[in-house]
Amino acid sequence: MSSEKLTTVEELQANLINAYHEEFPNDEPTICAFAPGRVNLIGEHSDYNSCFVFPMGISVGTMVIGKALDDQENPKCYFRTLAEDLKESKSFELDITEQIKPLESPKWGNYVVGVLALFLERIKPNKKKSFRALISTSVPIGGGLSSSASIEVAMCTFLEILYQDEYAYDLQLSQVEKALLCCKAEQTYANVPCGVMDQYISCFAKADHAILVDLTNSNVKHELTSGKFAENVEHCQQAAKILGHKNLRDVSSIDELEQGRDKMSPVTYRRAHHVITEMQRTQAGAQALENKDYKEFGRLMYESHESLRKYFEVSCAELDQLVELARSVDGVFGSRMTGAGFGGCTVTLVKKSSVEKCIETIKNNYKGKATFYQFEPSDGARSIDLKKSNDK
Ligand code: GLA
Repeated sequence: MSSEKLTTVEELQANLINAYHEEFPNDEPTICAFAPGRVNLIGEHSDYNSCFVFPMGISVGTMVIGKALDDQENPKCYFRTLAEDLKESKSFELDITEQIKPLESPKWGNYVVGVLALFLERIKPNKKKSFRALISTSVPIGGGLSSSASIEVAMCTFLEILYQDEYAYDLQLSQVEKALLCCKAEQTYANVPCGVMDQYISCFAKADHAILVDLTNSNVKHELTSGKFAENVEHCQQAAKILGHKNLRDVSSIDELEQGRDKMSPVTYRRAHHVITEMQRTQAGAQALENKDYKEFGRLMYESHESLRKYFEVSCAELDQLVELARSVDGVFGSRMTGAGFGGCTVTLVKKSSVEKCIETIKNNYKGKATFYQFEPSDGARSIDLKKSNDK
């Protein structure tokens, strides 16, 4: 098999338990939470325009293990990541008596601290708990498979378990509130103006399913920061405004966009063109998969990629080459970049019997070095029993 061997949930847990025992001999963690990464099949740069997305959970994700500690007078939280190749500190302690601000360093800490800060807004001040948490992820970092959302959602799941007996205020989060909380944490603490797709699917994913998500009125606010992603969010908002709508979802057709074309810059027009056509493709794609019409779904994937390349301008030469090489293989239905773009992964729909051929073709012809993953659609965030591993 020439795909990467994936770290299983059991292996992730065993590594974390070992690390825990090394650091805290004679002590046992009591909580274990897991949340998956995702791959988006179609519906890219749609979520923050209140359009449709069509992602699935994948079998790699982030796990957080740990326990509550006794010190309730001066509640403090200890975090440690098992991530290798980090230039920053791998652990830190956080005093949670005061309001929690974004960290100067380590930067990775903001993904967990942001979630904690927003979660604690739902807890009575005298009920805050000290805890320690060890974190490990099997999602390839920077691969566009949503490692950040899986860290946030795993952390939030850990906190839900930790605080399950303390229903202060309206603490008990619904799953939608949980996804929104994690998304807000990324926007405000990690400073990324993302939409809610990644956190949503990390919460709601279901084994053997891709999920068509309609994001009307997700009410996700965008804190615009610098960078290409933020610029594109802004172009989309401008286009909607020029066309007299709250967001691009409400634009009825490309004709409507054409009528407003003169009033917007060419870049704004191109961004809107992608979003409006992608919304149609995403709905058509979900229908095609339901009909088991893989050919049609594949065609829509290629079209989506072309639109992301030409109109949204978030592809790159490497991603384009990967798509073209996949397209040359018999048994491949479709292929496209997935996630935010500017690198990361392509997702390819291919007959099982042609997988090896596809990998071979890409390996032999791609100008860079590609890594291959075969994912099953997997379940969303959950608590994982610790006993099994401890009993081994
Ligand atoms: C990133 C963001 C998502 C979404 C995708 C593009 O993954 O976090 O919210 O906007 O890019 O579809």
